[in-house]
Amino acid sequence: MFKNNQNQNEKTNIFSRLIKFLIPGAIQSSGKFMGSFETTKMLFLMLFGYCKDFVWLLKKRGFRSARNFANVKVFVPCGEGAGGIFYFFFGWIIRKFPSLAPYPRYIELEVTTICNKRCIICEYVYWPKGTQERRHLSFDEFVKLVDQFPKLTWTNLTGEGSSFLNKEYIEMIRYVKQKDIPVFLVDHFDEMDIELAEELIKMPIEGIYISFDAATKETYEKIKVGCNFDKVIDNIRKFLALKKKYNSPFPEINYRYVITKLNVQEIPLFLDLVASLGGRKTHGYSSRVDFCGLLSFPDIEHLVTQVPGEIIQQVLRKRKEHDLFVTLSHMELEKNVPIECCIAWQEPYFMMGGYALPCCQVMMSNKRVWLREHTFGNVYQESFKEIWNSARYRRFRKTVNNKKAPVPLFCKDCRAFSTKQRELKYGVDETL
Ligand SMILES: C[S@@+](CC[C@H](N)C(=O)[O-])C[C@H]1O[C@@H](n2cnc3c(N)ncnc32)[C@H](O)[C@@H]1O
Repeated sequence: MFKNNQNQNEKTNIFSRLIKFLIPGAIQSSGKFMGSFETTKMLFLMLFGYCKDFVWLLKKRGFRSARNFANVKVFVPCGEGAGGIFYFFFGWIIRKFPSLAPYPRYIELEVTTICNKRCIICEYVYWPKGTQERRHLSFDEFVKLVDQFPKLTWTNLTGEGSSFLNKEYIEMIRYVKQKDIPVFLVDHFDEMDIELAEELIKMPIEGIYISFDAATKETYEKIKVGCNFDKVIDNIRKFLALKKKYNSPFPEINYRYVITKLNVQEIPLFLDLVASLGGRKTHGYSSRVDFCGLLSFPDIEHLVTQVPGEIIQQVLRKRKEHDLFVTLSHMELEKNVPIECCIAWQEPYFMMGGYALPCCQVMMSNKRVWLREHTFGNVYQESFKEIWNSARYRRFRKTVNNKKAPVPLFCKDCRAFSTKQRELKYGVDETL
């Protein structure tokens, strides 16, 4: 018995050391809850799944598609579908010499700020009247933006709204897919129809994150106000059936479940639900369920909760039972790793209207007016090249990872990295 425990401890120690090297974010956070050994094992199995995806793309879509997909897993630092394997080994180089980071190849942008839902966790619902440009991005604006990135290898097309309400959205997706650029998107699936599904599968786009925040109709419709549980489940079933018909692992279907006081007890049940929809076999080789901590702001603070240990234990059991990949992200924000570990600044985010931000980690904090005021530039007024090479942006990149420099103002309330210790010691650089 004692020997068994000792072996187990040794195994855990090795893997917890290993996991510390991993890039911060969902994986590190998962390691804390699921144990380093289990998380590392899951990573290797995921990698195996990506290899199968790569071979599929190589056969069906050609070398460029397959290579770009591999780039997502190797070089994209964070965000939907990102693998960031490169940073496991060489992140320290980028952190030490940020000027070596190439002109961005990975971007996130908002295609709409219009929504017909009223999800109670979403800042959209709490925007003070008259402070936001509520509209769809036009196809011309999209092209103007995307064309500024000649080596683009990842896009996350997102936004504080229901993207498919934008009638030009599908045109935008086609535009990037024609260039074999991997596309990931986030959606609630309430408006996913068969024609749309068929086109997304035939393209194929690489991945979808379905926002699904409960396991029962009652709780789901209390949170995702305006979405219909039965309709969404039906849409998911039809989508998965079409994927099967076309014998395609793409798009990989993942779930994002944002944890609140209302749905925390349903977490284990949600894994049963995903399994009943077909598990990993039908969702994608490396598809995952991402349980995500609530990113809070004053209007929704009352919904923040801790995940009880017994729920975590059930998740671990059900994960094995159903052979699902599970990650836990943005949990225990107070234990975030220090800001000098950040690599997310390589991945700019564009708010509606073309406002450039160095990353997405400050989003969903209901402070868009502030973000627009502190933008690094506007891509419709100057080129992103000029913005990227501006004195402020260059200084920002040098400062983020310098643990003896003040915290850039832009990073002050970061959701993914901790700034508190550094702020106490070196203050905040208000010009950044
Ligand atoms: C801005 S949203 C919404 C896109 C789309 N309307 C949907 O429902 O999927 C993009 C993602 O952020 C998540 N999200 C929204 N508010 C959040 C919050 N306060 N904390 C954490 N995640 C949040 C949503 O669940 C969704 O997966």
